[in-house]
Amino acid sequence: EMMKELSGLHVLESKLKDMLNLSEVIVVPGDSDQDVWVKNDMGKAAADRLKRQLSAKNIIAVTGGTTLASVAEMMTPIQKGQQLLFVPARGGLGEKVENQANTICSTMAQKANGEYRLLHLPDQLSKETYLSLMAEPGVKEVMELIHSAGIVLHGIGDAKTMAVRRNSNPSVLQKLEEEKAVAEAFGYYFDQQGEVVHRVRTIGLQLDELQNSDFIMAVAGGSSKSDAIAAFMKHGPKKVLITDEGAARQLLGNS
Ligand code: F6P
Repeated sequence: EMMKELSGLHVLESKLKDMLNLSEVIVVPGDSDQDVWVKNDMGKAAADRLKRQLSAKNIIAVTGGTTLASVAEMMTPIQKGQQLLFVPARGGLGEKVENQANTICSTMAQKANGEYRLLHLPDQLSKETYLSLMAEPGVKEVMELIHSAGIVLHGIGDAKTMAVRRNSNPSVLQKLEEEKAVAEAFGYYFDQQGEVVHRVRTIGLQLDELQNSDFIMAVAGGSSKSDAIAAFMKHGPKKVLITDEGAARQLLGNS
């Protein structure tokens, strides 16, 4: 905390909170684009913040990505008398196993002494497969849990980076370029105004359902994500942001 005072991070936090119209912002020192340990510090800050939010019974929906994987690594056991259930926010989004929401759920549950349920789904579903999977009892059960999640933890990515990382079709890449997509979260791609320009068809939490959760926390940093963070935050209910100094300074234009 004293280090934060000295380095002016609290000033960045309050400026960013106003600029992006958020309910809370936590900024950790450094830029995760430059130094890998900064991502772990964001993970730690997110895990600590989550702990302060917990009540007796908690259902937590999480997305994938390397940042959320760091949050999972930094989780510590919960207090006695608390219950935690982790569910993936959405089905397959084309990530490597270690960065999939399913994997992150199970790691979080293991580290926190909680439970988890998984969605076993192929990536990039056809409409027919999607509809028939939605009717499966096992899928329905997890879907209900996802819809009753009071807490949502998610990553935000740069649109192009994410589309390439997911080996998206050339036609998708072209569409994203034409529509000037800058951000990605939950399998949705957004332009600079925060409008959805494309989405991956998969089971799980849909963007407009976010408003049903009481606590939505994004964990995203690195100066290269500043446009993505700004664009995503133009949409929807008030959120909490855990970020780093690199992204914060870039966002505020004083890097
Ligand atoms: O694919 C899951 C996801 O949470 C995306 O929605 C997001 O854009 C990305 O991961 C963030 O990944 P990273 O933390 O590795 O930048």
